[in-house]
Amino acid sequence: MERPTSALALVLATKPDLPVHCIRPHAAKTAAKWFLDHFPGDVLYAVKANPHPMILDAVYAAGVRWFDVASLPEIEAVATRFSDAKLAFMHPVKSRLAIRRAYFDFGVRIFSLDSHDELQKIIAETNGATDLHLIVRLAVTGDYAQHKLSGKFGASGSSAVMLLREARALASELGVSFHVGSQCMRPEAYRVAMATVGDIIRQAGVTVDIVDVGGGFPAAYPGLTPPPLETYMTEIVQSFEGMPVLENADLWCEPGRALCAEAGSHILRVELRKGDALYLNDGGYGALFDAAHDGLVYPTKLLRAKGGPRRPLKAFRLYGPTCDSIDQMAGPFFLASDVSEGDYIEFGLTGAYGAALATRFNGFGDYVEATLEDAPMTSMFGLAPATKRESNVVAMAAKGK
Ligand SMILES: Cc1ncc(COP(=O)(O)O)c(C=O)c1O
Repeated sequence: MERPTSALALVLATKPDLPVHCIRPHAAKTAAKWFLDHFPGDVLYAVKANPHPMILDAVYAAGVRWFDVASLPEIEAVATRFSDAKLAFMHPVKSRLAIRRAYFDFGVRIFSLDSHDELQKIIAETNGATDLHLIVRLAVTGDYAQHKLSGKFGASGSSAVMLLREARALASELGVSFHVGSQCMRPEAYRVAMATVGDIIRQAGVTVDIVDVGGGFPAAYPGLTPPPLETYMTEIVQSFEGMPVLENADLWCEPGRALCAEAGSHILRVELRKGDALYLNDGGYGALFDAAHDGLVYPTKLLRAKGGPRRPLKAFRLYGPTCDSIDQMAGPFFLASDVSEGDYIEFGLTGAYGAALATRFNGFGDYVEATLEDAPMTSMFGLAPATKRESNVVAMAAKGK
């Protein structure tokens, strides 16, 4: 078969039995290039969002050389692929083995931490190394983000002040990092976070070499249309310039979602319809994890041959293929009212935290992979096709949220 030009062409030609994971490397490359062109500092790709080799290759091809990694397998995946990659081990809690292997086997020098004990672990496992870049993760509010990341990591208050002083004494370079939460809908979140961070640095009275504003940059899901990414950059630049305690500090960011969301979609098949419920061949234990557990609504497209009658749109809820009743996606997802068994639906923007979160629970979790060169369903980077019907589907879904 010739390489399909779109999800519809693929479905018509192959009638796939398995769910199809569509990868659009060009979309990841465009997003990465946008960040490299617009972020006034270093861009680290947060590998966890999508570690697929084609995505890694795409962001690398765009010019990204820095990677935010959270585990040994992620380190290995990037280091064996790109000999000139710079790795930042940004998980604030690491095993001793992971620290040792990262430092001695993979040359990692950048480590994140948010506690005294983790700092001691890093120093001990690197044999008292003096060439470490230690990045202290600070707690900031998660109130502006769709997916909060404030509940688990981040030092605050007087313990943050003490930790900065302690790390300063041991670091070749000292950094601070934070995460405003994923799918951050309000650019001012970065201003508020940077004010908090500036305050702690001031209290600690230390020189900081790196300010890492983390991830959080959004994609355009139905019902979650963010302001343009330029406004996020403006907030960050202005806040960085206003931080009084920094001299010649470097600015970093660690985007995950924004670089890869548009680069993925999934084609799923309806196995059964019961009223307004559709049972699909993938779901909450698969690529639609965030739809089941975070209430995220993906843009959808019913993949039928052109020319049939047009039906009004109707709200559906979705079920995945496993036996667990939490395997359901409330949506609502708007689709043609006559959708039925055997129909294929494409879910857009599953490139971030989609395939990366899929499990093999109940024996599911196998996908066909397809590379496509067409536009994603929605785009923060001007890539979307915006035909009337598609934008209608997105708008209807947004209304139902
Ligand atoms: C430390 C760190 N950096 C970056 C990211 C990427 O965040 P996002 O996908 O929201 O850009 C995450 C996500 O969990 C993270 O934990």
